[in-house]
Amino acid sequence: MNIRLETKNDYARVEELTREAFWNLYTPGCDEHYLCHILRGHKDFIKELDYVVEHNGNIIASIMYSYSYLFGDDQEKVHTVSFGPLCVHPDHQRKGIGTALIEKTRSIVKKMGIPAIIIYGDPHNYCKHGFKNGIDYQVSNMDGEYPLGLLVLELQPGFFGNKKWKIKQSDVFNLDHEKALEFDNRFEEKEKKYKYSQELFKMNIRAFLR
Ligand SMILES: CC(C)(COP(=O)(O)OP(=O)(O)OC[C@H]1O[C@@H](n2cnc3c(N)ncnc32)[C@H](O)[C@@H]1OP(=O)(O)O)[C@@H](O)C(=O)NCCC(=O)NCCS
Repeated sequence: MNIRLETKNDYARVEELTREAFWNLYTPGCDEHYLCHILRGHKDFIKELDYVVEHNGNIIASIMYSYSYLFGDDQEKVHTVSFGPLCVHPDHQRKGIGTALIEKTRSIVKKMGIPAIIIYGDPHNYCKHGFKNGIDYQVSNMDGEYPLGLLVLELQPGFFGNKKWKIKQSDVFNLDHEKALEFDNRFEEKEKKYKYSQELFKMNIRAFLR
């Protein structure tokens, strides 16, 4: 198993892998492979944190990062980073590969002097890596709310202090679903269907902390 930076030759394989890992998981079908596709050309994309895992000549996992923007209630503006998509091929999940990718890139983010990784994700996947809900650091979304899935990994202890903060993710995440559908036509046809994980996702995205 080799953890290395993504190269141009990997792009198509990473998109295939991402489609495979996310398909029907949160919605029927998925858009995440389109997100990979547009992210690489976006101004917020962070090339030096674009890692893949190669195993027996196949790409079996991928993590991509983008810049996000944190605004303090005293007008301070700080760059933070977010990862996503993060995925491991379904045949290789629950073997520690996702953890290895998070750990590898987290140490690079720390060396870059970035104070925190802030993501939207399922708390089940990330609390074990030290992420806490935004509310614990007074980090809200731009509307001042604390979504259940807004998760913060503090890399500089005490960085958030007593201020209130708002986080703005890269606008690359506001993707055009119609364009994503069009992009998906390039791939082999795959059945879209209901899975109970979609119900959990719908609950998660409508849940807020107070
Ligand atoms: C979420 C995801 C990236 C995690 O990757 P992963 O490689 O399966 O993660 P890990 O193996 O490090 O950890 C997953 C679980 O396996 C367990 N595990 C790790 N190594 C293990 C081993 N050798 N034996 C048994 N269990 C193991 C971990 O403890 C963890 O358990 P938990 O879910 O009970 O906490 C992966 O499941 C995935 O791609 N999912 C689909 C896409 C997705 O949802 N991405 C995240 C968007 S928010």
